[in-house]
Amino acid sequence: MNDEKYLKYKQLIDEHVLEFLPEIDYKSVTLYEAIKYSLTAGGKRIRPILLLAACDFVGGDVNLAIPYACALEFIHTYALIHDDLPAMDNDDLRRGQATNHKRFGEGLAILAGDALLTDAFQVLVSDDLLDDRTKLALIDQLSQAAGSWGMVAGQVGDIEAEQTPVDYQGLKQIHDQKTGALFRFALEAGAIIGGADARTCEALRQFGRHFGLAYQIHNDLMDVLGSQEVTGKVTQADQALTKSTYPSLLGLQGAKDALAVEVSAASQILENLAKESGRPYQILGGILDYLTLPSAK
Ligand code: IPE
Ligand code: IPE
Ligand code: MG
Ligand code: MG
Repeated sequence: MNDEKYLKYKQLIDEHVLEFLPEIDYKSVTLYEAIKYSLTAGGKRIRPILLLAACDFVGGDVNLAIPYACALEFIHTYALIHDDLPAMDNDDLRRGQATNHKRFGEGLAILAGDALLTDAFQVLVSDDLLDDRTKLALIDQLSQAAGSWGMVAGQVGDIEAEQTPVDYQGLKQIHDQKTGALFRFALEAGAIIGGADARTCEALRQFGRHFGLAYQIHNDLMDVLGSQEVTGKVTQADQALTKSTYPSLLGLQGAKDALAVEVSAASQILENLAKESGRPYQILGGILDYLTLPSAK
């Protein structure tokens, strides 16, 4: 993940993400501070990087994709602020720092999340780089990925499964919605903005599906195997909340096997695409390295 382009894309997001926030009047300074706190807390920016990398992979102009990548990071950040609230996962630490509600209080954390979600769509509506038809299609897809068809539905499933454990298919669906949906959007949106044909867009969407699922399984495993220094979060938190996770349902080895299956499916899609198109896929492929686990355990 130290590829030059990967770092360049991360830097692009780090540089631009605040530019897309609305201008703040003096009355909203605390809101701005709360939003800025989470947007600049040191997130890995994996979703927007994947969006830019997909656009690049299909030969598109990455500059056209920047607003969409930043809007996606807004939505991801809002989801995490709300996910950490006492009413949900009740976490005190994120990215090695106090969670938004610990720093600013619950009311402001809820509102900072609300603002980020709403402002994300404002960013897209205001974009004048893409034609209106493409823009509308992307707004439609992002709203489906984020809302009652996607991430929010997955979050509901996640909290309900604390009381009523789900079976493997149920858990896979929760992960696919709460995490996979934004990844699928990232890959497909990058491909669409880059002007890819429908088959390539669908293949990249499928890559996003496997990658997203793998990402959440890895996140579940790191809660058990990882350390606070590495994850920036309090570990062993899922068990305390009786979360339904891959390790809780399948055991450690079962979860590792499931992760390997998803990583391999994602790699296969990339290899096929690269073979067909003759294009290098080093960033998309390199990001799969993130999904390795600590070797000691
Ligand atoms: C955390 O996402 C929540 C999951 C869906 C696994 P990330 O691990 O991408 O969070 P940041 O943005 O890098 O902190
Ligand atoms: C977060 O999932 C997924 C979101 C949609 C926000 P988790 O609750 O499993 O992620 P962490 O462990 O808090 O990062
Ligand atoms: Mg959660
Ligand atoms: Mg959580």
